[in-house]
Amino acid sequence: MSMIRDTRTAPDVNASRQGTLPDAEIAELLAAVSAGEPWSAALERLRLPTLSRKRHWFVNARKADFYRSLETARRDWALDIGPGSAIIAAELARDYTSVIALEHHPLWCRFVGRRFAQDGVHRAFAVQGDAMGLPCREGSIDLAVLNGVLEWIPDAAPRLAPRSAQLACLREIRRALRPGGALGIAIENRWFFGNFMGLSPHGEPPFAAVLPRRLADWQSRRRLGRPYRTWIYQAHGYRRLLAAAGFDDVRLYGAMPTYHEPREALALSAREALRPYFASARPAKDAVFALLGRLGLLGQLVHSFYISARRPLVPSPP
Ligand SMILES: C[S@@+](CC[C@H](N)C(=O)[O-])C[C@H]1O[C@@H](n2cnc3c(N)ncnc32)[C@H](O)[C@@H]1O
Repeated sequence: MSMIRDTRTAPDVNASRQGTLPDAEIAELLAAVSAGEPWSAALERLRLPTLSRKRHWFVNARKADFYRSLETARRDWALDIGPGSAIIAAELARDYTSVIALEHHPLWCRFVGRRFAQDGVHRAFAVQGDAMGLPCREGSIDLAVLNGVLEWIPDAAPRLAPRSAQLACLREIRRALRPGGALGIAIENRWFFGNFMGLSPHGEPPFAAVLPRRLADWQSRRRLGRPYRTWIYQAHGYRRLLAAAGFDDVRLYGAMPTYHEPREALALSAREALRPYFASARPAKDAVFALLGRLGLLGQLVHSFYISARRPLVPSPP
C-alpha cells in the first residue's frame, strides 16, 4: 500500500455530501476549455459555486494511490469507469500502456478528452459509454476502477432493482477483466457512524442509508418524489455482492478519513491506527469511540471503503 500516513483528524462528515454536479457549471467550464483556456485556470477564474470549491476533486492524485497499488500480471489496459474530472485515469496512465476513461455524461466526457489533451496525457482517452455495456473485449482489461460510481449505477438501469443493476454492472466488469485481473472500488459504508446520526451520503432524506430499504424508498418518494436507489452496503454486504458477481480475493479497507480525500487505506481490524480518526472533542462521544475501539468495531463504522477483488483465474463451474 503506497498511501502515506500523516496527521490524523476525525472523519470530515461534510465530505460525504458528494451530491450531483450541476450541468450548467460543467457546461460553463467546458465552454472555456473548448475555447482554449487551460482547465485549471478556467476553474479558478469562473468561480463556479460547486466545481470551483471542489478543486481537490480535480487535482488530488492520492485518489489514485489505492488503484496504483493493486498488482496485475500485465499493465496493458486500465479502465476507469465514471472518471468525472479524470484525475484517477490521468494517474493510471503513469503505469498502464492505455487507459480508457469511460464516462456516460456527454459534457464530462468532452471535458475529460480536453483535459488529457491539455495535460499531455497521451496514454489515456475519453470514451462516452455506459458501465452497463462496456466497449471492451472479453478478458482484455488488467485493472478496472469504480471510484464513487457503483452507488449511481442503478440510475443507469431504472428497470432493474438497485442491487440487480449493481450486480449486472459488476458481472459486466468481470467479463471485461483478464482472468486474475483486478477491480478496485471506493464507496461509502452503510454503517458509517454519521449515517446513524442522520447524514445522507447522496442527498437522500436523513437516515435513508441505515433504514430498511423499503422504508427508505417510501420516505424518499414521499419527501423527494423519487425512489431510493443509491444503495450502499456494510462490509459484509459488499463481500456478498462481489461474490455473487463472480469475483474472488475480495479485500476491504477503510478509506481514511474518506475516499473523497484519502490519506491511507487501513485494514478494518487495525484498531490502533483507526482510533485517531474517531477522536471527538465531546467526552461522551469519545468514550463511545474508545469502547467501540476496544471491541474492535471501528472498522465497521468508517466513512467509506476501498475494495479490491479479482476475476478468478479459473472459471467457476456453471
Ligand atoms: C461521483 S462521480 C465520481 C467521479 C470520479 N470517479 C471520482 O471519484 O473523482 C460519478 C461519475 O460516474 C459517472 N457515471 C455514473 N453512472 C455511470 C454509468 N452508468 N456509466 C458511466 N459513467 C457513469 C458520472 O457521470 C460521474 O462522472
